[in-house]
Amino acid sequence: MDRIRIRGGKPLSGEIPIGGAKNAALPLMAAGLLTDDRLVLSNVPKLADIATMASLLAQHGIAVERPDNAGRVLSLGGRITNTEAPYDIVRTMRASFLVMGPLLARTGEARVSLPGGCEIGARPVDLHLKGLEQMGARFNLEGGYVDGRVDGRLRGAKIVFPFVSVGATENLLMAAALAEGRTELVNAAREPEIGDLAHCLVAMGADIKGIGSDTLVIEGVRALHGADHAIIPDRIETGSYACAAAISGGSVLLRHARLEHLGATVRVMREAGVDITEEAGGLMVRRLNGLHGADVMTEPYPGFPTDMQAQFMAMLSVAEGASMVTETIFENRFMHVPELNRMGARINVHGTSAIVRGVPSLSGAPVMASDLRASLSLILAGLAAKGETVVNRVYHLDRGYEAVEQKLAACGADIERIRG
Ligand code: EPZ
Repeated sequence: MDRIRIRGGKPLSGEIPIGGAKNAALPLMAAGLLTDDRLVLSNVPKLADIATMASLLAQHGIAVERPDNAGRVLSLGGRITNTEAPYDIVRTMRASFLVMGPLLARTGEARVSLPGGCEIGARPVDLHLKGLEQMGARFNLEGGYVDGRVDGRLRGAKIVFPFVSVGATENLLMAAALAEGRTELVNAAREPEIGDLAHCLVAMGADIKGIGSDTLVIEGVRALHGADHAIIPDRIETGSYACAAAISGGSVLLRHARLEHLGATVRVMREAGVDITEEAGGLMVRRLNGLHGADVMTEPYPGFPTDMQAQFMAMLSVAEGASMVTETIFENRFMHVPELNRMGARINVHGTSAIVRGVPSLSGAPVMASDLRASLSLILAGLAAKGETVVNRVYHLDRGYEAVEQKLAACGADIERIRG
């Protein structure tokens, strides 16, 4: 297993290109099931999860070609020949469950393995299934698989989500695009990735109103056609490298980053003493003086993203004063805490909240990555720590961050990957 070694203490300076958003690319790829025409996606990040989704679609009959040698364009085309999503793929990536809505909408049947939990929580899919049942689907659960069937076409329905779910909003939005009649998704997720998916579906011929709001109204159409769509920049990658600039005491231009996608992250970063300004086709992030503690609670967009919680906590661990970090979305998303504490951080977890008492400096240590965002938070801590930090199990990192060590080394970080 690869490891990443960092020797800390060097302020970052330079420019980091922000890639396409992983959490937009994955549902957009699933949208390739909604038409036999060619769907061309550009600004695609090169990540393990993208490769996993491509192999899942390929076994459904949707060929995923990479017409450009840079590998940033995916051309999806083909007819659905298989409506089963196997356990050995779905268990490696929960977003595989996003094929459920499109398969039911196109073929009236789908047999998808239940994703199961992951490191950060149980992560059920009950909202996906309840919404599809309201649209006429019937599900049978056996052998760890969800077997879905529809007599005829899915039918539009008014679906009110009891709480915000990104994945359920995406699955039902794609299903509704081809359903018979009108669907209303109330209390829908408003993450920028939802808007990106909706804009692509409209380009494919879907009729969607309320994009960007918490109520989406979809008039189903008989068929969708192909389209060309450029994926939005990754707001979580943006926030992660903004924390890298801040924790290292440097200044970095995040090329292609979009301020309006950061939601509450901007306010909280500024509160902690980080300067973020729009500049030269991106965001300039710099730490002017010391960092100071800030309280944060994770919430659905436009609130502070749960996917930024671990990275922000690493930054707060060397801020002056205390901070309270409350995680409201997932039940087990503090696994970076014991690893940060091994580096000298002073963090105490009390249920869904963690008290972070800032320390003057961290000290490098061997640490263990547990999930995607936690692995990045450990790298951030390593950038600031005195001495050497080795982050183990970086396969977590490779699922969602492209070329981390190259991007950070280009800004002066002493970081390298140890192949193992
Ligand atoms: C998406 O996951 C993202 N993944 C996650 O990013 C992100 O953390 C999450 O949204 C929240 O923003 C992708 O987009 C591929 P949810 P998703 O449905 O759709 C519960 C990363 O690091 N829930 O909004 O699975 C669920 O357990 C990943 O890039 C149900 O109870 O998240 C969670 O507590 C991690 N029943 C909460 O809702 C359901 O049917 C929010 O989950 C669905 C969800």
